[in-house]
Amino acid sequence: MQRTLIWDIPTRLFHWTLALSFAAAWLTSELDPWLAVHVFLGYLMLGLVGFRVLWGVVGSPYARFSSFWYGPKAAYNYFREILAGKAARHVGHNPAGSLAIYLLLILTVVVGVTGYFTIGGEEQHGVVSGLLSMAQGRVAKQLHELAATLMLLIVFGHIAGVVIESYLHKENLARSMVTGTKLADAATPTTKPRAGVAGVMLVLGVLFAGWWFSYALQAPVEKKMGQAESVARTPEVAFVGPKLADNAQWRDECGSCHLAFHPSLLPARSWTRLMNEQAQHFGADLGFDAPTSAALLAFMTANSADLKLTEPAFKIGASLKPGESPLRITETPYWVRKHSEITAAEWKQPLVKSKANCAACHLDADAGTFEDAAMQMPKSQAAAKAKP
Ligand code: HEC
Ligand code: HEC
Repeated sequence: MQRTLIWDIPTRLFHWTLALSFAAAWLTSELDPWLAVHVFLGYLMLGLVGFRVLWGVVGSPYARFSSFWYGPKAAYNYFREILAGKAARHVGHNPAGSLAIYLLLILTVVVGVTGYFTIGGEEQHGVVSGLLSMAQGRVAKQLHELAATLMLLIVFGHIAGVVIESYLHKENLARSMVTGTKLADAATPTTKPRAGVAGVMLVLGVLFAGWWFSYALQAPVEKKMGQAESVARTPEVAFVGPKLADNAQWRDECGSCHLAFHPSLLPARSWTRLMNEQAQHFGADLGFDAPTSAALLAFMTANSADLKLTEPAFKIGASLKPGESPLRITETPYWVRKHSEITAAEWKQPLVKSKANCAACHLDADAGTFEDAAMQMPKSQAAAKAKP
């Protein structure tokens, strides 16, 4: 028995990059400001799987599928042998490990593709935006989360398998995946390190990261509405969903005291109630004459949250009980949940003052799109402006 190279560098690079990407994707999955990173990791993992499939055909002996093409039956038998404590040692992948590999490769594709449809549906970003409604986007998201959870379970199973195997055969399998070597007899097929291929993988990964982040962080805001000063080159991925309606009269009348809150932020029944109660509008008497009231109400009800055109519209609407017609966006459960981590001090700072001052933190408040990436807390906004 002698130390022999079993795992070539591309296979090891693939393994650890996939593992780290998966962990990082979990960590960023609930953090809106990290969405661009999360999506990048998804693309990276899909790219890695593409590479692995290719490498499974043309790679070095132990990377090839033909060296670990075991059926479920072989895996089952292998599990029984493990339980009996007499599983045979495999220099390459064993039948149980192979099962985990195939399941992880397939699930990565499922997670990646459903993630793509989630972004297209819920955020209206990317090539498939506009193909799916918000509700279909939500189904895609549920599948995405289900597949990712399954993947996590298999990862745990895989790690448990590595620990058990390492113990049974008194060798450190995790370390072999780092060094690439294992003790093997002289008849073992030779593996070449293939550093060149790994180098190409790295360069492609870095180029893709450079391209993705220059796109995600610098794509100019696509101004759909509003005459407010242009915020080109803000850190935002352009919203490519359905065009949101605009109306000059509404912008004039409802935008004179505060931001003209886009009608898509409340259901039609709220707007009807707000206009009916316009004499006591948060301490102000709006005093619109009948034709103006009718025109404003018509625009607002025709473009309300009920149309579910944007993610906030869909989620604000879904967070309300059927009969509920709140007058404040800032009192809807979805809004409250999304802003629950903002501290009292942050609300009180001079640049914010009121919860209703959406534009203090949302660069696209005027347009009504409320993209994740267009959210900037005032402090960082001030810091960004101070930079030359
Ligand atoms: C005369 C000034 C004035 C005009 C005109 C006005 N509002 Fe308001 N509006 C207010 C004030 C004051 C508040 C309370 C703001 C706060 O809490 O910081 C408010 C709050 C609101 C809120 C609640 C914001 C939240 O907390 O979610 C909505 C929605 C709203 N207005 C809609 C409208 C609409 C629609 C129009 C046009 C039909 C309109 N407003 C016109 C003064 C006005
Ligand atoms: C003090 C800053 C601040 C103000 C003011 C503010 N927001 Fe936000 N908003 C945030 C932060 C921070 C988040 C991100 C929360 C997270 O990461 O989940 C957020 C998230 C959101 C989201 C979710 C975006 C998404 O796609 O997940 C919506 C919608 C939203 N805000 C709407 C509004 C509206 C409408 C107003 C005004 C009535 C408003 N916000 C006022 C800071 C603010």
